[in-house]
Amino acid sequence: MNGMPSTGNDARTRAELAEQGPVPVRPWTILRYDPERFPFAKLLERDVFHVPRLDALHQHVRARRRALGLGDQLSQRDNLAARKLMQDLPDDAPFYRLYHAFMLHLLCPLVGRGISYSSRPKMRIHFPGTYSVSSFHHDIIVTKRIDQVNFWMPFTDVAGTTALWLESDYGRADYAPVPVRYGEVLVFDGGYLGHGSVANDGDTTRVSLDLRFSYRKANTRAEGVGLMNRVVERIDAGVVRFAPPSAVHGPATG
Ligand SMILES: [Fe+2]
Repeated sequence: MNGMPSTGNDARTRAELAEQGPVPVRPWTILRYDPERFPFAKLLERDVFHVPRLDALHQHVRARRRALGLGDQLSQRDNLAARKLMQDLPDDAPFYRLYHAFMLHLLCPLVGRGISYSSRPKMRIHFPGTYSVSSFHHDIIVTKRIDQVNFWMPFTDVAGTTALWLESDYGRADYAPVPVRYGEVLVFDGGYLGHGSVANDGDTTRVSLDLRFSYRKANTRAEGVGLMNRVVERIDAGVVRFAPPSAVHGPATG
């Protein structure tokens, strides 16, 4: 579905959340990194899809369909088939080693404490002409994890219908796309801030990963809010550490 705003009974405004406890100063922010030091897209282009540009991946899929006598229209099945190629990479593939290096050398130093995060993040592909991957929702309904923060990292520049759509603040339901470039990560309070995607009516493929992270051993909302505030504060202060190249290509841990 292409995501008409539907917040349901789970939506809470900032004022309503504040009655129950702490609320992040801002519900989302953008973390910038150097894609030359963390060349995620290059690894996916080289090792997984064997194409020169990820954002033109749909052209290669359409060409293959034509060669098989099939039509140009791509579907969710194509999104999932392409995603599987990324998810089938072994744990020690360069892409996943780079992912762990990013968490260890960039995100952990940024938040200043050990974090828990998924060893295998959700990979996503959203081809032009395909429907929404997820209508608007709040993660807390499913995860019940009050201590987590969302991390959404595209490997193609996204805007409009290839972007993730967020409400401007808690409970407002004024969903709008957040443009994010390759080399940036959208960090947001997805447990409580409504978010989702819409049908891709553009002409580029979106390739991205997403996950949730928390302070290690955290289990309170105050820790989740503290984590979100810490990320916002450190980014505002311009404190983002880049790992030295040797660390990026070293053994992955974490
Ligand atoms: Fe979500």
